[in-house]
Amino acid sequence: MSGIVVVGTQWGDEGKGKIVDYLAEKADAVVRFQGGNNAGHTVVAGEEVYKFHLLPSGVVQGKLGVLGAGMVINPKVLLEEIEGLKKRGIEPNLLVSQKAHVIFPFQIQQDGLSDVAQGKLSAGSTKRGIAPAYSDKAARNGIRMVDLLDRKIFEEKLENLYRIKKKTLEFVYGQKIQSKKLDIFDEYFGYGKRLSKYIGNESKEVNGLLDEGKTVLFEGAQGTLLGVDHGMYPFGTSSDAIAGGACTGAGVGPTKIDEAIGVVKAYTSRVGSSPFPTELTDKTGDQIREKGHEYGTTTGRPRRCGWLDLVNVRHAVMINGLTSLAVTKLDVLGGLRKLKVCVSYKHKGKAIADQPFDLRVFRECEPVYEELEGWEDLPDSEWLRIADEGYYSLPKQLREYLEFVEKDAGVPIKIISFGADRKATIDLR
Ligand code: GDP
Ligand code: IMO
Ligand code: MG
Repeated sequence: MSGIVVVGTQWGDEGKGKIVDYLAEKADAVVRFQGGNNAGHTVVAGEEVYKFHLLPSGVVQGKLGVLGAGMVINPKVLLEEIEGLKKRGIEPNLLVSQKAHVIFPFQIQQDGLSDVAQGKLSAGSTKRGIAPAYSDKAARNGIRMVDLLDRKIFEEKLENLYRIKKKTLEFVYGQKIQSKKLDIFDEYFGYGKRLSKYIGNESKEVNGLLDEGKTVLFEGAQGTLLGVDHGMYPFGTSSDAIAGGACTGAGVGPTKIDEAIGVVKAYTSRVGSSPFPTELTDKTGDQIREKGHEYGTTTGRPRRCGWLDLVNVRHAVMINGLTSLAVTKLDVLGGLRKLKVCVSYKHKGKAIADQPFDLRVFRECEPVYEELEGWEDLPDSEWLRIADEGYYSLPKQLREYLEFVEKDAGVPIKIISFGADRKATIDLR
């Protein structure tokens, strides 16, 4: 049995897609267990670039891709993603949870309005309907994928949900609902028909694979600080973007998870709004953004960039029970003479080592930095040579950076990434 969870340790976009694709070669199935098409995961294999919002990144390697019950699924986007892959010659082998919830246009309409209404407390949502879909699920008004397959049940549930959403949009936000109930019914019943061959009992399949001794990867979306329970609420998303989320979202017990790998970007990026203690609003921040192509995969928004924050990483190590780290985008820092790493915060003269959840403290705290030596900027060909030669051919300063992170985080770094391509990786596992 080998259940391996891969999660983001920061604010999302750490490079989970790259790491999952890399690990998928030796896996039998890859499972997304939470989130929806707010996620954007990039896989680069030679000349081919794939951007996934709903499909697990493992489908590029031809592995079974499972969309778990903890997800919220926009079926239109799912069908587009499947068609897009087919056009590129990949026929994905998919299983979509019958229990996953469906995202509807009126939830997308509500998401935009609610994000504006939240003012200073807005997270700057991706406007994909994520928060309304999860709130409707928790309020027990949601509609599951399996419901799209049964005309009578879908009619009954849509009647209820549509009535509530229409009133919410009118009375809370003063807006008319933009979509007609009958149109939605026809459209979504049609999606159900087209997706029916994929919809099934995913938790039975995944547990069966694990019981047979197969390797199953669980691909987290978003990141630990964006998680609804242990993140920087309300500046995050609406699902549990942590290793424990794999259990609830995929329907596997905690005893079936053997490893939890945390993906750490060598610096911090944040798309959306929240306090961000190590943010760089100067030339260095711009340089990192341009060199790291830090523009949202989902929305195209420029990502805010800053120094690595080990307060975040230590929080992620604890909350996820991480067994190892995968550090990505080290090439992007190449050419910076000195690098700063935040090791703690200071608030009103007091040192803070643990992630603060008091919003006032988090807004006001200042990063305490250690300064480390940078390494040179190297061309892609040089990084690929290093990948072939192994750990000790990495620049000395880069190894010192990794050793500093490893010591502070208290868990070993087992995967080192210095390029978007699958090959630009050193694996110490
Ligand atoms: P995810 O949401 O965590 O899967 O990350 P994204 O795919 O949204 O963003 C990470 C970006 O960095 C993608 O464009 C990746 O192709 C790219 N990437 C991943 N690892 C590396 C790396 O080590 N170096 C560089 N330069 N790019 C990387
Ligand atoms: P991946 O999986 C980075 C952020 C949004 C916003 C907040 C809430 O690619 O790492 P939502 O639409 O979920 O209600 O938005 O969360 N966010 C992400 N930021 N990467 C993501 O996914 C994200 N998914 C959501 O910017 O601040
Ligand atoms: Mg992303």
